[in-house]
Amino acid sequence: MIISFYLNGQSVEIDTMPHHRAVDLLRDYFQIRSVHHNCGDAKCGSCLILMDDYPVHSCLIPAFELRFKMIWTMEGLSSQKSYSDIVTGFKTANVQLCSTCAPARALVTEALLRQTVRPSAEQVREAADSVRCGCSSTPRILDAILRSAHLREKRIHVS
Ligand code: FES
Ligand code: FES
Repeated sequence: MIISFYLNGQSVEIDTMPHHRAVDLLRDYFQIRSVHHNCGDAKCGSCLILMDDYPVHSCLIPAFELRFKMIWTMEGLSSQKSYSDIVTGFKTANVQLCSTCAPARALVTEALLRQTVRPSAEQVREAADSVRCGCSSTPRILDAILRSAHLREKRIHVS
């Protein structure tokens, strides 16, 4: 089945097989290395992508479900000016992440900031829980997300 979708702002087209998972399609055919296939079971969060602005586990969805969607991964997000809100938010909160978790954390935070720059405690908690890793303390992750939100709010008011 030939599908087309937007990948990091570019229109792309590809022939897919029914057994293809979105994560494998992105990694194998589009060299998207920031998306990882680890648990394969919606548990770790390392395969997260943004689909029409919402985080989804690409290890779970068939590749053909990307059809007509707007897909963002770290490769595209990191070229956006507003990405610096997240980089600074996490840096000033002293959160250090490995290369597997960092893209997923950034995408989940970006998804939240696209919904609201004044997230509730519950929304921040939900975003923090989307990626499973015990390397940073939860309060630091929550703080990092909130700092990112403040920076994004400031950016919106300035522009
Ligand atoms: S690989 Fe998809 S959640 Fe772990
Ligand atoms: S920061 Fe990646 S496993 Fe903890």
